[in-house]
Amino acid sequence: MKKLMAANWKMYKLHSEARDTAEALVKAMKGVLPEDREVLIVPPFTALRSVRKAIKKVPGFALGGQNFFPSMQGAFTGEIAPDMLTDMGCTYALAGHSERRHILGESDEFVGKKVVCGLERGLGMILCVGETIDERKEGRLDEVVRRQMELGLAEVPLDVAPERLTVAYEPVWAIGTGLTAGPKEILAAHALVRSILLEKFGQAAQQMRILYGGSVKPENASEILLLDNVDGVLVGGSSLSADSFSKIVTA
Ligand code: PGA
Repeated sequence: MKKLMAANWKMYKLHSEARDTAEALVKAMKGVLPEDREVLIVPPFTALRSVRKAIKKVPGFALGGQNFFPSMQGAFTGEIAPDMLTDMGCTYALAGHSERRHILGESDEFVGKKVVCGLERGLGMILCVGETIDERKEGRLDEVVRRQMELGLAEVPLDVAPERLTVAYEPVWAIGTGLTAGPKEILAAHALVRSILLEKFGQAAQQMRILYGGSVKPENASEILLLDNVDGVLVGGSSLSADSFSKIVTA
């Protein structure tokens, strides 16, 4: 199982900036991308085409969408369909990112609809879960992650190809704050995620990737990537520059 090194560019970069960063990353990775790592760039929709062009035919690189609406097509002003992402060359998409849950008010059930719809339309789905600082202080980490996963995966067929389903554990208090969960916290949360996957999918869950996200940077990436049940990282801020993201990818 390759480690998935995902760059979530959020609402940053004009298309020309995205193209330049993707090109710089491809250049930086030439000949040094480890065999066991896959690079995933998740740019804003308006940059998908430019990034696709920059990474086309580059082995080990993939493109992903940050979001979509769980329907094939229709009168959904401002939304984008999963087939529009695959048409642009995306092989992955995110669902349940904390910014969408907390700023856009997405519910667990809605996130679950996206996960199953994306899988049906051929996307590899990355379900993001994680607790807020208050939930952690109240000792509710297990409850929150379990609820997000149970509802987020509720309709996923039990025989889903394991490489197409990924869970990203991203403690909300560590996203964009510079605070990173410590090794003990990451180990415990990832073990919990793995056990919930095993309960639902049986042994196939051993082949499902669990990513860590939340202030991953070149200085802490290698320590995080060595931890049990960490099968990659989902990086925001430090993925915006080709220089820092390439250091993370090769960490
Ligand atoms: P960050 O974001 O690396 O800037 O903390 C991670 C994420 O939101 O996926």
